[in-house]
Amino acid sequence: MMVGTFPIEQLNRFDTPYYYYDMDILRETLRILRSESAFDRWHVHYAVKACATDALIQTIAANGLGADCVSGGEIRAAIAAGFPADKIVFAGVAKTDREIEYALEQDIMCFNVESTEELTVISQIAKKMNKRARVCLRVNPNVDAHTHEKITTGLEENKFGIPMQFLQEAVKQCYLLPAVDFLGLHFHIGSQITDMEPFRQLCSRINELIVGIEQLACMDENGEEQLAKVTHINVGGGLGILYEHPNHFPIPDFKSYFAVWSNGISLRPDQHLHFELGRSIVAQCGNLITRVLYVKHGINKQFAIVDAGMTDLIRPALYGSFHRVENLSRPDNREQLYDIVGPICESSDVFAKEYKIAAVQRGDILAMRSAGAYGEVMASQYNLRRLPGHVISDDLNKK
Ligand code: LLP
Repeated sequence: MMVGTFPIEQLNRFDTPYYYYDMDILRETLRILRSESAFDRWHVHYAVKACATDALIQTIAANGLGADCVSGGEIRAAIAAGFPADKIVFAGVAKTDREIEYALEQDIMCFNVESTEELTVISQIAKKMNKRARVCLRVNPNVDAHTHEKITTGLEENKFGIPMQFLQEAVKQCYLLPAVDFLGLHFHIGSQITDMEPFRQLCSRINELIVGIEQLACMDENGEEQLAKVTHINVGGGLGILYEHPNHFPIPDFKSYFAVWSNGISLRPDQHLHFELGRSIVAQCGNLITRVLYVKHGINKQFAIVDAGMTDLIRPALYGSFHRVENLSRPDNREQLYDIVGPICESSDVFAKEYKIAAVQRGDILAMRSAGAYGEVMASQYNLRRLPGHVISDDLNKK
């Protein structure tokens, strides 16, 4: 059985559960991402919501990416990690006045605006501060991402974005409002998308919408007529990873993903294309390391009860998602079937059912793989547990 390479002796010394980040995987992911996206006027922003651990976001910033943020806290973390404000975009359906003020103070690149109501508020705040807000309108393109219903965002029934029917009115409003500059359009159809077809559909939708918008005559705040212009197209994130195969496919298929956009969207010299990738950048470098507390024998099954719970990694409980589990202490044992469960007083605190893994004993350490995205950052303290914390591979090598 193939397992990832882990510095097992060193990992054994830390209190479990914790996240272990392999920085070599992150660096290799970034190297390939950069080489596959090296087109003029293409800009990749890292979706900070996927993982905001300092060492990771500092490395990502140092590689020249921008940041996609959804709260004032994320903007603050991005700036502290070294992302320049003029590469920060700010999305979210419920930006507070304080967050809008903070983003304007920092002079971030752009607000991704999710409703005309929000647009009016941003303009009022910017005007009061004597600033101008650059905005992209987030459009709900009604494209089905064919992913888990809880991480689908681009359908009419979802709360995100401006419905296409209202888009032209919203563009006109941008021109009319006194403190807003219209840059273009923003989209995001969902997450963990491994079939490229929904992205192709999104390309066609984007091309149609731009043609429509650029025929619009808009009145500006001085009463002059202007033709609307889309100079920035932000296609969001969503590229998926192979949770089943972290060892064979540690780097996502950036080549196919970026080929969709280079084939599907032809940029004019005055246009820029933006991406907001989260999971595909950080998922495979992160692992949740946990220790087996008990091997409990039930009537028809056995349980591997571990010290990590849904408070440390909520994805299996929330989305029924799969994470590969490996026994790092005894990788060569004969495999047996277990339900791998945590300590939380909830019956959904189950990582895997009927899962085949090298036979475990009390005290073994296990790695839950592909947990770098939406893992540590979604941890909670339910049951008054401590937050999991993390170990960074570079720090081990220093010792
Ligand atoms: N842009 C926007 C506007 C988003 O809402 C998201 C993710 C991204 C970019 C980044 O998407 P990614 O490249 O990571 O797919 N907690 C869930 C995933 C939630 C995704 C939320 N939005 C999970 O664990 O699967």
